Amino acid sequence: MPSLRKKRLIEPPPVAASIDSRNGGAAAAQLAAQRRELAAGLGAPCPHVSPKFLYDALGSRLFEAICELPEYYPTRTEGAIFDASLPAIAAAAGPGTTLIDLGAGNCAKAARLFELLRPLQYVPIDISADFLRDALERLRLRFPAIEMTGLGLDFSHELRLPDGVRRARRLFFYPGSSIGNFSPIEATAFLRRLRAACDADGGLLIGVDLVKQHEVLNAAYDDALGLTAAFNLNVLRHLNRLLEADFDVRQWRHRGFFNAELSRIEMHLEARSAVTVRWAGGSRHFAEGESIHTENSYKYTIAAFVSMLKLAGFGQPRVWQDEAGWFAVVHASAI
Ligand code: AVI
Repeated sequence: MPSLRKKRLIEPPPVAASIDSRNGGAAAAQLAAQRRELAAGLGAPCPHVSPKFLYDALGSRLFEAICELPEYYPTRTEGAIFDASLPAIAAAAGPGTTLIDLGAGNCAKAARLFELLRPLQYVPIDISADFLRDALERLRLRFPAIEMTGLGLDFSHELRLPDGVRRARRLFFYPGSSIGNFSPIEATAFLRRLRAACDADGGLLIGVDLVKQHEVLNAAYDDALGLTAAFNLNVLRHLNRLLEADFDVRQWRHRGFFNAELSRIEMHLEARSAVTVRWAGGSRHFAEGESIHTENSYKYTIAAFVSMLKLAGFGQPRVWQDEAGWFAVVHASAI
């Protein structure tokens, strides 16, 4: 049951359902839209599935485990940058913000900032609402002074925030280099939407993965334990549920590699042998070796990323990096 306080904050939820008050009609419409999107992607000349479908409950847990892998440097490198430079980063952002955590997951990254950043309101947003609900319950106990409003929504195409999310001093927080999972054109459009959702006193705090040695990149997305493979393959189980498809996970293999020409990691699922997959309302034959493209993860140079921020309308950014120059944390004011 939503508390009275939360009800007053978000009543009625105009676009994004609060994770505490999801309504059945909105969930059914979302499922129908996801099914159309998935069927179109699987039926396309180059079959693809959006990376957001990697994150069902198990996928979110597998991603958490990936972040612990020695090969997967982004999480620990970004964490080290925050550890080393948090006072300066918090000073750049300033206190009293409405911290809007995009793709919050277990909310752990934002929670590390709370003490120095001292936000007034915390708004974690994640497509995996169940996962977010559990994390937020724990966080509310630890930080009772911060007003918290969790939102279960897909912010990748549009961002319309409920009235309860304060407009003043919005600070969008987008760590982990998830921006790399958009194409550069999509990323610019996405950043522009964030800029439009801020007043002049707003800003953005974002993590960006940088171009580096190809062996380092390849190992990070094709690890020795096979966790990234499991993460990628798990999307097929998610598809079986969402689309009533009959993918047999054992018939597919993970591919993850750096495409230097496009400056991106690509993840694919490759058919081990010829197979016909059926789903509600459709089917497709895959020849042996044919693949489904499941994710891109673009790697930037600082200069390229700063140009993108400027194109999106943000002001002069401040950049913090690790010594090896593998990752960057960037703060950009709205003006
Ligand atoms: C969430 N995102 C930033 C991760 C990445 O590195 O692109 C997702 C991931 N894919 C495979 N491993 C991690």
